[in-house]
Amino acid sequence: MNIIKAFWRRLRSPSKVAVGVVLLMGFMGGLLFWGAFNTGMEATNTEEFCSGCHAPIVKEIRETVHFSNRSGVRAICSDCHVPHNWTDKIVRKVQASKELFAHYVTKTIDTEEKFKERRSHLAEREWHRMKENNSQECRNCHNFDYMDFSEQGPRSVKQHSTALASGEKTCVDCHKGIAHKLPDMQGIEGW
Ligand code: HEC
Ligand code: HEC
Ligand code: HEC
Ligand code: HEC
Repeated sequence: MNIIKAFWRRLRSPSKVAVGVVLLMGFMGGLLFWGAFNTGMEATNTEEFCSGCHAPIVKEIRETVHFSNRSGVRAICSDCHVPHNWTDKIVRKVQASKELFAHYVTKTIDTEEKFKERRSHLAEREWHRMKENNSQECRNCHNFDYMDFSEQGPRSVKQHSTALASGEKTCVDCHKGIAHKLPDMQGIEGW
């Protein structure tokens, strides 16, 4: 009995060292979990990860300015498709878990024909997303405030200084198909 009592007493008034040890263990556990979690977030942001299921698209992108250009700056899949902001990133990753279902269960785009059929639907989802967030992912690299109009072609300046500057239109309203082949655009509004 005495031992139990002593045990409880110790628990209720733990020594400073014990408290320190417990806190430290909690902290290290937290770090480990945090590390593993963020490693997972990173691993699912690589091009290799996306290529596993989107091989046709990876092939196309090699011919565009976002793969190779005079400045040597590359945009990879996640630069355009996964938010940088932490909370938005988590939300997007959770949404993306339905892609797993579409890949393994319903197999919506596992053949070229099926992908072709479904492409305009998927593109529209992406345009919608980008319109909603004012093309945030483009803006992570292309900052309107630092666009030097004197370096741009007249066609660009005309549009950028009007519809873009006023906020009436966002990047993807005018720049569709910059990284991929466009889907069949018949019946797509405003095109
Ligand atoms: C396990 C396979 C798999 C992986 C890995 C994967 N995707 Fe997908 N993704 C799919 C499937 C399947 C669809 C089609 C979903 C549908 O038919 O509704 C899709 C659809 C999309 C779409 C269309 C928009 C939408 O909301 O459906 C985008 C954009 C996309 N994926 C980007 C990515 C990016 C970027 C990565 C890497 C960070 C990635 N995917 C990794 C299987 C995958
Ligand atoms: C990771 C950074 C990055 C992201 C994200 C990005 N871009 Fe770019 N973009 C570049 C670079 C680098 C170039 C090439 C610059 C040069 O000419 O050297 C470029 C070029 C362009 C061009 C010029 C095309 C041409 O033929 O000269 C357009 C238009 C463009 N981007 C639009 C977009 C849009 C729209 C988005 C969002 C969907 C986007 N970019 C996302 C880095 C990025
Ligand atoms: C109202 C339509 C419109 C909007 C909105 C728009 N652009 Fe453009 N942009 C154009 C046109 C038109 C061109 C010229 C294309 C050409 O001549 O082939 C252009 C050209 C460019 C170029 C190449 C510039 C040059 O002259 O070398 C870049 C980079 C670019 N846009 C990025 C963006 C980004 C990033 C956004 C969003 C922040 C954006 N644009 C929004 C219409 C637009
Ligand atoms: C420079 C930005 C940019 C990069 C880099 C990029 N995408 Fe996209 N992606 C877009 C835009 C914008 C759309 C909407 C359709 C369009 O305009 O082509 C799109 C659409 C898609 C779609 C829907 C189907 C379709 O073809 O429209 C899928 C799937 C997709 N992207 C996957 C990927 C994968 C996988 C990678 C990497 C290999 C990648 N994207 C790289 C900007 C980008």
